[in-house]
Amino acid sequence: MKSTDHLIFTLPGTSMALHRLGYGAMQLAGPGVFGLPQDASAAVTVLREAVALGVNHIDTADFYGPHTTNQIIQKALHPYPKGLVIVTKVGVLRGDDKSWRPACSAQELTSAVHDNLRNLGMEALDVVNLRAPGNHGPQEGSIEEPLAALVKLKEQGLIRHLGLSNVTARQFAQAQSMTEIVCVQNKYNLVHRADDAFVDDLAAKGIAFVPFFPLGGFVPLQSSALEEAARSLGATPMQVALAWLLQRSPNILLIPGTSSATHLRENLKAATLQLTPQARAALDSIPGGERTAGQDGLGGAVTQCARIGQ
Ligand SMILES: NC(=O)c1ccc[n+]([C@@H]2O[C@H](COP(=O)([O-])OP(=O)(O)OC[C@H]3O[C@@H](n4cnc5c(N)ncnc54)[C@H](OP(=O)(O)O)[C@@H]3O)[C@@H](O)[C@H]2O)c1
Repeated sequence: MKSTDHLIFTLPGTSMALHRLGYGAMQLAGPGVFGLPQDASAAVTVLREAVALGVNHIDTADFYGPHTTNQIIQKALHPYPKGLVIVTKVGVLRGDDKSWRPACSAQELTSAVHDNLRNLGMEALDVVNLRAPGNHGPQEGSIEEPLAALVKLKEQGLIRHLGLSNVTARQFAQAQSMTEIVCVQNKYNLVHRADDAFVDDLAAKGIAFVPFFPLGGFVPLQSSALEEAARSLGATPMQVALAWLLQRSPNILLIPGTSSATHLRENLKAATLQLTPQARAALDSIPGGERTAGQDGLGGAVTQCARIGQ
C-alpha cells in the first residue's frame, strides 16, 4: 500500500477512484446561492486551481444559481480531464424570488437531468444524487417514485451512477433494493453527528459518505475545543475540522465549499494533517448530536417532495 492510498476511495462498482478531498461548488454562485458570483473569473480560477492541485471530485447542482454554477464549471474545466468526476443533485428548483422549491416529479427530474447535461456540457452525468425531502434534515417517507424516474434515465444512458442526499438509513435501504447506490450525501460535521451509525454502516458496505456542510455551512463551525486543537497542531480550525472527518472513517469523501483560492489551498492541506491522539480525543468529545434548524441551504425546499411516493 502506498502512503497516500488512504486518501483515495473508489465508488463501489465503478472505476471512479476519488481523491477523498474534493470540492463543493455551491459557493460559486451569487449571494444566497443565486445568480452569478461577484467575480466570475475568480470562480473559474478556483475551479482550475482545485483540479491542478489534484481534486478529481466536484460536487454541484444545476439549481445553484440556478444554472450559473454549472456553466462556470463547464467554462473552467471543459473538456474535462480524464478521471474528473462531477457529482450533481436533483430534486429542487429555484423560484425567481430566490426560494428553493421541491421538484421531484418524473418530469421535473428528467428536465433537471437535461439541464445538468446541457449546462455542464456532458453526454452522460457521472453521478446524480436524488436530494430527498426534509429541510431540517432527512425525514422518513418513500422515495420510490422519484428514484424510479432516475433509474429510467440511467437505463437511457443519461446517468452513469446514482446516489442519495438527505436520506435516512431506511430510505437508503429502500433505494438499495431498487438500484445500485454509490454514495450518500448528508449533513455531517464535527458538531453535527446524527449520522454516526449510518456512516459506519455505509463504510461496512463500501459506500461513500459525503458530508455536506463539512465546515458548518452558512454558519462556520465554532468550538473552543476545535480552536485549541488547531493551536496545538499548528493548523487552522478549518483544516482540523476536515482532518477529523478524513480520519473519522475511510469512506468519508470531503467537498468543502469555498469561493477563495486561498481557502481552497488551506483546505486541501488537511489531507496531510495527522491528528494526535490527544487532539482526536478532545475533538471526539465535542457534543455532536444537535440538528441545527434552517441550515441545509434549501430553505423550505423539499417539504412537498415528502408526499411523493408515500
Ligand atoms: N446535498 C445537500 O443538500 C447540500 C446542501 C448544502 C451543500 N451541499 C454541498 O456541500 C458543499 C459544501 O457545503 P458548503 O459549501 O455549503 O459549506 P461548507 O463547506 O461547510 O462551508 C463553506 C463556508 O466556509 C467558508 N470557508 C471555506 N473554507 C474556509 C477556510 N479555509 N477558512 C475560512 N472559511 C472557509 C466558505 O467561505 P469562502 O467562500 O469565503 O471560503 C463558506 O462560507 C457545497 O459546496 C455543496 O456542493 C449539499
